[in-house]
Amino acid sequence: MTQTLLLLPGDGIGPEVTAEVRRVAERLTPDLNLEEALLGGCCFDAHGVSITDETVARAKAADAVLMGAVGGPQWASAPRAQRPEAGLLRLRKEMQVFANLRPALCFDALADASTLKREVIAGLDIMIVRELTGGVYFGEPRGVEKLDDGQKRGFDTQTYTTSEIQRVCRVAFELARGRRNKVTSAEKSNVMESGMLWREVVTALHAKEYPDVELEHMLADNAAMQLVRRPTQFDVLVTDNLFGDILSDEAAQLTGSLGMLPSAALGDPGRPGLYEPIHGSAPDIAGKSAANPLAAILSFEMALRWSLGRGETADRLFKAVEAALAAGARTADLGGSLKTAQMTDAVLKALG
Ligand code: NAD
Ligand code: IPM
Ligand code: MN
Repeated sequence: MTQTLLLLPGDGIGPEVTAEVRRVAERLTPDLNLEEALLGGCCFDAHGVSITDETVARAKAADAVLMGAVGGPQWASAPRAQRPEAGLLRLRKEMQVFANLRPALCFDALADASTLKREVIAGLDIMIVRELTGGVYFGEPRGVEKLDDGQKRGFDTQTYTTSEIQRVCRVAFELARGRRNKVTSAEKSNVMESGMLWREVVTALHAKEYPDVELEHMLADNAAMQLVRRPTQFDVLVTDNLFGDILSDEAAQLTGSLGMLPSAALGDPGRPGLYEPIHGSAPDIAGKSAANPLAAILSFEMALRWSLGRGETADRLFKAVEAALAAGARTADLGGSLKTAQMTDAVLKALG
């Protein structure tokens, strides 16, 4: 049966890196049906909304969805519900992709591209599991209200239920079993009610279902520090939506560049996954063919592996990326001079 990958190129460098995914897919998986739809600022400009109901339906019906990036200064004053980012959040929520896998892996060839010392990041292989459909991103109430004294008050709500914590932590424990068998859970249980509940639920789940996995609790601020102090201590790092957003950008830089880090957002088995590079639309380099396409290409690699049942093809693609980097392929963010398409050329060449 034909499988469908829905591409959502988005804004800024999103279309630039998604075009490179298309080139790789056309070479590697010519039988895969590639479709496209609008998401983000481009969709707002065309339809007055950052995602249409039709696109949500198509995403749910696809085998996998791959997004480029959304957002940019030109939409900063759009109504909040129609900001490009709101379209992405709606998509994540409607697809029910609650577990966001963000692998921070240091390719040998890039150990000198990081701003950290080689000996600190050599061998780095962290799987961040970020909760993606709950927490302060979605909690109610939220808003801005006027106060009697003429000030305004902005507020958001951080909220987690037992089952929301359990399902994402289960994903983390299962992943750890296939890796180095260690889970670090990061929260602020010293300050936040939801953090206290998070720790309590993880502890109980661990005792009941995963006693064979090593579990460590770490306050999120310490986790941020430990990530740059001795990042190789981490195997699987599970955390909430907001801390996961911040810690994964930090981890990306350990690998050499934000342009290297892919992600897979997964829900219950059988549902399509949503694949995204973790970087944004990079307005500062958009339109210059300077973006590193590897985060997007590696997101496609994750789609092959996690949604499309093509693990061997994923292995081939991963090795080709590794070989291209070993051969010296570098975009500007990695200290080189290759343009976006030239980096893909290097990957295609390594694919043979
Ligand atoms: P950003 O990730 O777009 O850029 C941060 C820095 O990293 C910039 O200097 C950029 O040039 C660089 N960078 C990012 N991706 C790169 C790549 N592939 N190759 C080379 N360099 C790269 O973050 P920002 O500037 O804070 O946000 C810009 C916009 O993107 C905002 O509207 C934000 O909301 C949005 N955003 C979207 C996503 C997403 O769509 N998933 C993720 C993050 C930010
Ligand atoms: C990410 C981004 C998004 C997030 C934004 C664009 C909504 O920063 O995917 O990391 O905060 O989740
Ligand atoms: Mn982010």
